[in-house]
Amino acid sequence: MTADLPHGLDPARMPGHVAVIMDGNGRWAKGKGWERINGHKRGAEAVRTVTTCSARWGVRRLTLYAFSTENWQRPALEVEGLMRLLADYLDHELPTLMDNGVRLTVIGQPERLPERVRERLRRVMDATAGNARMTLALALSYGGREEIAGACRRIAAQVAAGSLDPAAITPETVAAHLDDPAGGEVDCVIRTAGEHRLSNFLPWQAIYAEYVTTPVLWPDMDEAAYAACLREFQRRERRFGGVEAGGTSRFRSPSPA
Ligand code: IPE
Ligand code: IPE
Ligand code: MG
Repeated sequence: MTADLPHGLDPARMPGHVAVIMDGNGRWAKGKGWERINGHKRGAEAVRTVTTCSARWGVRRLTLYAFSTENWQRPALEVEGLMRLLADYLDHELPTLMDNGVRLTVIGQPERLPERVRERLRRVMDATAGNARMTLALALSYGGREEIAGACRRIAAQVAAGSLDPAAITPETVAAHLDDPAGGEVDCVIRTAGEHRLSNFLPWQAIYAEYVTTPVLWPDMDEAAYAACLREFQRRERRFGGVEAGGTSRFRSPSPA
């Protein structure tokens, strides 16, 4: 079910799974002569906008890159500020998630996060577990290589226990052992702030995704800017290795609503 789709967006061609590299918070703040943390604070508002638009417009899964394994290298004060903002976000977001039928989940290494964040994550995930319109996956302390290594460890344990024959390991086996196998394939990766790189984001899930970059800095990402990214996605011709557009993909993403 889609509501109030912006002009030029085709409801039949909405991406089932959108994944966003939310970049440019620091530059946004710097441009205003402010501390970086203010950019992150405004970035949380853009998270709300993009989440609610996605749910309303028929996206089934939205994965947001909120903190990478590499981001632990940032100055302790910035990391601490980001964790505080994450806890604040989780304290205030429940009504919006409930109103929009959004279920929250996490990929990455939540065990590395401070207990106050983990406790809030558990609370919001429990409260939203029954919501079925869209899943919001927050990538926290997420690294694609770490995720694939984790899948290898889980598969290897089964081989060591004698319950899995190495000859039976297929791409589907690997996919089934990722952090959240239900996430499926990514249809569209959006990166803000004009950068053209993946930065360790979803290397397994996004091999056939369309990549859309926008110069918009993440805190400026509003409904119109997000709709423009999705229009760009809909202009692409996806072939999945075949010769015709729209060829059937064996790479399954969540079906659009
Ligand atoms: C993205 O904005 C937020 C995180 C990576 C947590 P940045 O903080 O990377 O902003 P820039 O790239 O320095 O502008
Ligand atoms: C990627 O952005 C990580 C997140 C958006 C959470 P970065 O700003 O950390 O990436 P690089 O350093 O520009 O590659
Ligand atoms: Mg950045």
